[in-house]
Amino acid sequence: MSTDLRGRTALVTGSTDGIGVAIARGLAAAGARLVVSGRNAQRGEKVAAAIAESGGAAEFVRADLADSADVRRLAAEAQRIAGGPLDILVNNAAMLLDPTPTAEVAEETIDRALAVNVRAVFLLTGLLAPPMADRGRGAIVNLGSISGLFGSSGSALYSTTKAAIHSLTKSWAAEYGPSGVRVNAVAPGPTTTEKVQAMADYLAPLIAGLPSRRPSTPEEVAAAVLFLAGDAASNIHGAILSVDGGRAAI
Ligand SMILES: NC(=O)c1ccc[n+]([C@@H]2O[C@H](COP(=O)([O-])OP(=O)(O)OC[C@H]3O[C@@H](n4cnc5c(N)ncnc54)[C@H](OP(=O)(O)O)[C@@H]3O)[C@@H](O)[C@H]2O)c1
Repeated sequence: MSTDLRGRTALVTGSTDGIGVAIARGLAAAGARLVVSGRNAQRGEKVAAAIAESGGAAEFVRADLADSADVRRLAAEAQRIAGGPLDILVNNAAMLLDPTPTAEVAEETIDRALAVNVRAVFLLTGLLAPPMADRGRGAIVNLGSISGLFGSSGSALYSTTKAAIHSLTKSWAAEYGPSGVRVNAVAPGPTTTEKVQAMADYLAPLIAGLPSRRPSTPEEVAAAVLFLAGDAASNIHGAILSVDGGRAAI
């Protein structure tokens, strides 16, 4: 069953780089109109232009999710582009953090990571899910992580933000599911984005222990998002789908 998203509008946060670009391309290839977002306008416009060149429709909206006024503006712009409630929201943007001992994490880093990875997701969903619920239809996919499932030394802050995303996914499934809005998460393991490839030495032991013995590609993560966003997942609510080469199973 292939995913057909023609006539639907999707906002993908953090679609100027990494996994978000693959998600935006995947949703656009399935026919969705895309709202591409992030802070970097040059990269964002390029992603939107590439989607348009391959026959899709996309607009870039610049937003810094650390700034709640930007979050509100993004929600309003996305609904303007959709001409009403959004059909699909992918909460993908996050601040990745270098492994750091807890006692050495600066207070500003704690505030910023919580603001971008949790507060913005909370606010954006609180703005966009109720109109979906009023209409009786919508799909939200959050990007969690295997880091939210397991303890890992040096990763306390990042892991906390991703565990929060898993928890929010379940709470929102309970809150919005009865109104026809499905909320699910994808939990990737190490994925071959530019930034993560730069951490190859740190990740090598983890990857060597995976049943698949290899990291995921952004396209493999995007395929899981596409599935959860589409009608093939019509009775899936509150799931956390691991795309991690089998790490969560062992
Ligand atoms: N890559 C992995 O191995 C991996 C593994 C598990 C989970 N994940 C999760 O997958 C998602 C995507 O990760 P990724 O590896 O693709 O990350 P990435 O390559 O660092 O890309 C992050 C995206 O988020 C945006 N972003 C960051 N801070 C932002 C802010 N303050 N305001 C608005 N946008 C912001 C960036 O855009 P701008 O720079 O333009 O703002 C960029 O588009 C994240 O939720 C991450 O936790 C990734």
